[in-house]
Amino acid sequence: MTSANIILDNVRKSYGTVQVIPGLSAEIEAGSFTVILGPSGCGKSTLLNMLAGLEEISGGRILIGGREVQNTPPKDRGLAMVFQNYALYPHMTVAQNIGYALKVAGVPKTDRARRVREAADFVELGAYLDRRPGQLSGGQRQRVAIARAIVREPQVLLYDEPLSNLDAKLRHGMRMELSQLHTRIGATSVFVTHDQVEAMTLADRIMILNAGRIEQYGTPQEIYHKPASVFVAGFIGAPPMNLLDGVVEKGTLIFEKTTLGQTEARDGPVKIGVRPEKTLLGQIGPEATTVYAEDLGSHRIVVVKAANGQQLQISTTQTAELSDSLTIGLPPESIHLFDVASGARLEHEVRASNPRLSSRLRKAGEL
Ligand SMILES: Nc1ncnc2c1ncn2[C@@H]1O[C@H](COP(=O)(O)OP(=O)(O)OP(=O)(O)O)[C@@H](O)[C@H]1O
Ligand SMILES: [Mg+2]
Repeated sequence: MTSANIILDNVRKSYGTVQVIPGLSAEIEAGSFTVILGPSGCGKSTLLNMLAGLEEISGGRILIGGREVQNTPPKDRGLAMVFQNYALYPHMTVAQNIGYALKVAGVPKTDRARRVREAADFVELGAYLDRRPGQLSGGQRQRVAIARAIVREPQVLLYDEPLSNLDAKLRHGMRMELSQLHTRIGATSVFVTHDQVEAMTLADRIMILNAGRIEQYGTPQEIYHKPASVFVAGFIGAPPMNLLDGVVEKGTLIFEKTTLGQTEARDGPVKIGVRPEKTLLGQIGPEATTVYAEDLGSHRIVVVKAANGQQLQISTTQTAELSDSLTIGLPPESIHLFDVASGARLEHEVRASNPRLSSRLRKAGEL
């Protein structure tokens, strides 16, 4: 199968006076697996439906494989879509469901039968061709929906939350299958979800949407290690990044009267971000009280409250008894800084004020 790139050029969407997407520009690379991630109502489905041609755009251009398609009917855009609710015909067999679009398109019967069989084999449903959707499990139904999409040999495959009806174990299995499927068929995949685990594991690139705007568009690694904003930092990671109110005074970063390090960031208030897995328990640093602890077997999530009332989550494999009051370590090399007003990432590093202390913190983190 071939793939095509997608260019969104200042694409806008309003319903009446309500602007859902204010003007979005991005390129989705040919053959990539791109995930559109964001909270409920941010415009993910709207964007996907505009790509598919199921929703008209209010302005801008959409190009698929270099061809302007915003005025092209859905069936002529070279794409296929997989929905959350599968949308299978209950009275048709698996084979009929998969082959329906080909039948409508007038593909000859023998050709159709071969392509249906190939698509079914692709998703390992070859033995189920005569069953009806009601006689299949949720995961199998989802695979029929995928076979029905790929049988048309689209250049672009669009998925809108296709796994959200499945239980956790099945989701994991389907994630692996989708990833392998993508490698085998090579079509450009655009996948909408609000599940950050799906996004992190499936994507070549993640587009994070917030109220119809792109907050960040990058690889899962970039988004995890260099979140572009407070919004992204608080959205990615389980538990998400701790975001604390700090201050820079004459180049020194301070949280709760404790010096965390030296920085070039401008003097004044600043948001300090540290991931729960980088936040240390019982180290030299700000004082806190234990609020709650959860034992997940492999590690614990400990919730603590700093003196200023802000809560932090700490993900730790340390097994020491938890006391009511403790100190927390915020290693300088794990600190992200964000602008308080705009929420934007500040590209300033935090260096240890006291290198000996820093190396002790680091060692503690490696234990
Ligand atoms: N037909 C419509 N008329 C008016 N507003 C609409 C219409 N369809 C969607 N919206 C609004 O557009 C916004 C984006 O909706 P959309 O369905 O794209 O969100 P989403 O990101 O897919 O959310 P979810 O994760 O809940 O599926 C929402 O605020 C929604 O209320
Ligand atoms: Mg949606």
